[in-house]
Amino acid sequence: MNKVLAWLGTFFAVIFLAACAADSGDDTAVSPTNIPETEDNIITYEELVVGYSQIGAESEWRTSNTASIKEEAENLGVALIFSDGQQKQENQIKAIRTFIAQQVDVIGVSPVVETGWDSVFQEAKDAGIPIILVDRRADVDEALYATYLGSDFVEEGRNAAKVMADLLEGQGHIVELVGTVGSAPAIDRYAGFREVLAEYPEMQIIASESGDFTRAKGEEVMGDFLRQYGAEIDAVYAHNDDMAIGAIRAIEAYGLKPGEDIKIVSIDAIRDAFQAMIDGKLNATIECNPLLGPQFFDLALKVVNGESVPKWIPSEERVFFPENAAELLPTRKY
Ligand code: AHR
Repeated sequence: MNKVLAWLGTFFAVIFLAACAADSGDDTAVSPTNIPETEDNIITYEELVVGYSQIGAESEWRTSNTASIKEEAENLGVALIFSDGQQKQENQIKAIRTFIAQQVDVIGVSPVVETGWDSVFQEAKDAGIPIILVDRRADVDEALYATYLGSDFVEEGRNAAKVMADLLEGQGHIVELVGTVGSAPAIDRYAGFREVLAEYPEMQIIASESGDFTRAKGEEVMGDFLRQYGAEIDAVYAHNDDMAIGAIRAIEAYGLKPGEDIKIVSIDAIRDAFQAMIDGKLNATIECNPLLGPQFFDLALKVVNGESVPKWIPSEERVFFPENAAELLPTRKY
């Protein structure tokens, strides 16, 4: 890369980015330090400039994910240009285009929805800037990204259904709080759950609606479900813990006992979910690891230095139950 041109590009793009920040909700902290590469042409962490397009701050999970990325960049001395998309794909696309103009070395992106990325990813590829998908996949040709670092959301859905089948002894009415419409985790957790449920004809999903991965929306939608189905509901499957916590509030407000009258299984394994299990209000949580910063920068460095990396680095995930929640809570990092 021509570093002089790159530096000039970065300078003007930074000014452009700052001008855009007000209307795109961008909280980018810019520190372009395109120091010349070492003589052997191997880029080090201190020379690496990374553009990172985050989805927003819809959940505790996301907050921990952002912290992990920012903290690791600081630890390693990487110049991180961070952009908050505020749940809007258009903001993320705008940020990626800005990173391209800045000629960053690599772009990390957690796509808010699965589709609609082909053009902008192609633009990055044409500019010679590798894209690393973090946490969420995009529905694009594999040639358009270097690697995907994140969870197996289908397996999380399957695990949630297995746990639910045990809790309900294979029989009951389930309501589902779906994640953000069109997002990879919502699509895959929906599918994985149904795949296993097909083996249990007496377990039925009687209602399914998006709670957008937030507590407030989870509470609102669960309130609607309760008004419509009341005590007919045996269980809630929430695509994340935040929506489950919203559902717990709605169930209590309705006068029923979450975790007892209505069983609840959700995904993420955030600290508040452990507390809810200790309080007897949540029956299980399936882990989805947000602490991806160290692996992301390790991959970024490998990719810019031309090392080959697997097309998918899956996270290792467990299932947690109330039995040992109190013992594990102090050890949880998010
Ligand atoms: O993409 C991961 C999902 O996004 C998490 O399960 C959810 O909490 C987050 O907002």
